[in-house]
Amino acid sequence: MKLMESDGSTPSTFPALGDTAYDVVVVEPDALRRSKLVMLVGGKGSRSFESVAALAEAATSGTPTVAVFGPSLADDEGFGPVAALTDDHPEVGVVLVADQLTTALLQKALRSGVRDAVVLSDDDDPEELFTAIARVGSWMVALGTRPVGNAPAIAPGKVIVCFSTKGGVGKSVLSTNLAVALAQRSERPVAIVDADLQFGDVAVLLGVTPERTVMDAAAAIHHDDPELMRALVMKHEASGLLVLPAPVEPSTADQIRPEDMLAIVNSMRNFCGTIVIDMPPRFDDMVLALLEIADEVLLVASMDIPSIKNLKVGMQTLDLLSLAGPKLRLVLNRANARVKLDVKDVEKALGLDAQFPIPSDIAVPQAVNRGVPVVLDNPRSPSARAFEDIATQFLAEAGVEEPGKRRRFSR
Ligand SMILES: Nc1ncnc2c1ncn2[C@@H]1O[C@H](COP(=O)(O)OP(=O)(O)O)[C@@H](O)[C@H]1O
Ligand SMILES: [Mg+2]
Repeated sequence: MKLMESDGSTPSTFPALGDTAYDVVVVEPDALRRSKLVMLVGGKGSRSFESVAALAEAATSGTPTVAVFGPSLADDEGFGPVAALTDDHPEVGVVLVADQLTTALLQKALRSGVRDAVVLSDDDDPEELFTAIARVGSWMVALGTRPVGNAPAIAPGKVIVCFSTKGGVGKSVLSTNLAVALAQRSERPVAIVDADLQFGDVAVLLGVTPERTVMDAAAAIHHDDPELMRALVMKHEASGLLVLPAPVEPSTADQIRPEDMLAIVNSMRNFCGTIVIDMPPRFDDMVLALLEIADEVLLVASMDIPSIKNLKVGMQTLDLLSLAGPKLRLVLNRANARVKLDVKDVEKALGLDAQFPIPSDIAVPQAVNRGVPVVLDNPRSPSARAFEDIATQFLAEAGVEEPGKRRRFSR
């Protein structure tokens, strides 16, 4: 990277500085390299630190921050403390600048919690670094769009995601029915967000016409106006559930960035008690980000070998990202299906108790075809009772007192 252009003028610095909602700081033990980086990314007035410890001490503000780690930190020892730093300061995202980047080094860096890494030698165009900073910066802003300032002093909404790496296992049926059951029984608003941007069918399952979708919310989110968000979300009249459907035009789905989705969900936490998210059947940046911010992850599996195998691979991936643990709960759909799999065997294979079994039930496809969730269409059916039981469990854990008449739903 260049410190000075040949004509003596200073080179361009990070373009959007000053306009951004996040800080950019530099961490580099070597004084010369540090000042070069500061000139490049920070410009005047930007803060720099000679060690990770010094940054950790200074970072107290909660302001979204991109920490650019210089080349002297591009080894195990250098980025080792990143995990501890970002645990204490989740508002800090680290971009590593290295002279060289092997796959092994990149892997180690990412595992340590570095969000992005860029190769930059003296003659390289810094564009790639600027892009990385902007990307991580908007990421940190989105993660930080949780209730602050003049938001009412109530707990932010709880996020429940329904996930599986396989399609057709019942994620959408579960998320719509759980959301409707919770909406009917909760004081605070309950919302459902369809994050299966390409093939989402939440609107169809609820029988609502998607007048406004995640697409509109993504466009509105940059106004940073919770009232606007609230006005955008549609209502499912029969239950009072707030609905944010997937885009109507599947081809537009890739215009929605992971950080948009995070910002949408975090903004909804301001006015919702619970947000249920129906997920697509794969791992991508958006899915990982949503799994990260989720309070509860409902892993959905049906009782067949491919589904269980898929789930096991999925769980191993989740483990790798240290997302496993108390957040994970297993929902075994069609748990009574006449197949040779025993629930006990499945639990053993996955190392997880099937906390929520849902029976195979003809009332489900009947309700699906009517565009009415089974908890409304046929509340006495075995599947509806199972969905109500899941809602009961969540409400009990949240300490919500329920009117006695609802008890008939419990088994
Ligand atoms: N418990 C169940 N009993 C009977 N049919 C079910 C059950 N759960 C799901 N189904 C059927 O499986 C289909 C796929 O479910 P869906 O929720 O759309 O899967 P996913 O969202 O995981 O792709 C639904 O249309 C429904 O008819
Ligand atoms: Mg689905």
